Amino acid sequence: MDLHTAYPGIADLKLRARRRLPRFVWEYLESGTGAEITLKRNRTALDEVKFLPSILHGPIECDTGIQFLGQDYPLPFGTAPIGMSGLIWPDAEKLLARAAAEAGLPYTLSTVASQSPEDLAPHIGQNAWFQLYPPKDPDIRIDILNRARSAGFSTLVLTVDVPVASRRERQVRSGLTNPPRLTPQLLAQIALCPTWAIGMARNGMPRMRTLDKYIDGQSALPPTAHVGYLLRTSPDMDYVKWLRDAWDGPFVVKGVMRADDAERLQQTGVDAIWVSNHGGRQFDGAPASIEMLPQLRAATNLPLIFDSGIEGGLDVLRALALGADFVMLGRGFLYGLSALGAPGPAHVIDILRQDMAANMGQLGLPNLQNITSVIRKVDAAMQRV
Ligand code: LAC
Repeated sequence: MDLHTAYPGIADLKLRARRRLPRFVWEYLESGTGAEITLKRNRTALDEVKFLPSILHGPIECDTGIQFLGQDYPLPFGTAPIGMSGLIWPDAEKLLARAAAEAGLPYTLSTVASQSPEDLAPHIGQNAWFQLYPPKDPDIRIDILNRARSAGFSTLVLTVDVPVASRRERQVRSGLTNPPRLTPQLLAQIALCPTWAIGMARNGMPRMRTLDKYIDGQSALPPTAHVGYLLRTSPDMDYVKWLRDAWDGPFVVKGVMRADDAERLQQTGVDAIWVSNHGGRQFDGAPASIEMLPQLRAATNLPLIFDSGIEGGLDVLRALALGADFVMLGRGFLYGLSALGAPGPAHVIDILRQDMAANMGQLGLPNLQNITSVIRKVDAAMQRV
């Protein structure tokens, strides 16, 4: 059966992914922090972004292409960094990187993914990005940057919204520790998921391979903090400036929710700002990322990347209409991969593409160039009613 018939939406992939993943893995992927108010708010606030359909345009051919940071992309989205992605699905990093490369879209490798820049070098395309959790030690910092650059990663993304480890109660309840310990509780969960178990048996228990060479011995860590916390620091503006000088390609700062921070960052010479509340995984008192996007758009003329809660092509349009220049998804791609294995990420891309085109048709939009004016017209029209 055609994939679009069996799994027409990301929600269908999510349902199947849940059945194919051991409970502790699902909980790692799906959970937010605290009572998950911010996680839910990301979704409800996206749903509140409304457009008025626009009629009588004659036939419309939709062009979903976009220019971003000097590159042409066929679609305005890519794969966000995902920590321990290899725990969620065997070989996730390679499969996601290949799917992105084939579609001409960016893939972002996390510092705390289960494969290293070197592992991925043969699989990445022109637009591989590397996400940095900031190491304290300047030698390690320089070494990681050199490794990312030599492996072919062109864009550097510094994550700044993890000044401390967050509490993730659902992960603790599910029995997940870092690194995972195969307790009877976990083994019972794994026994119910043979495809996942066989893949993991083939690859061995995933670990943070980028950091392997810097770790000697283990120190005590809270159960959901990972080995990355032994190496990392909480960066300040001087750290951002240092990185700006040290990296000769595009440099993005991820996890920005405040207009004044965007203004400060613009002064340090960063190339783009990534608006995100980490998918509700860090701070449960935060607004939805989409609620802050218009303020950030007004505060800076730097390109803006958006993530947090995107589940379809309409959501991509919502973020672009409110001022984002590019959109990223983490969980959505992992739903596809966990549901379908290797063909999953390409199917996610296809669902998003078709959903974007269908909704652009409703909006009378032949391309994405003037999408911000669509929302302004909605505001004006709704006030008239
Ligand atoms: C997380 C970290 C690894 O959200 O970014 O799980």
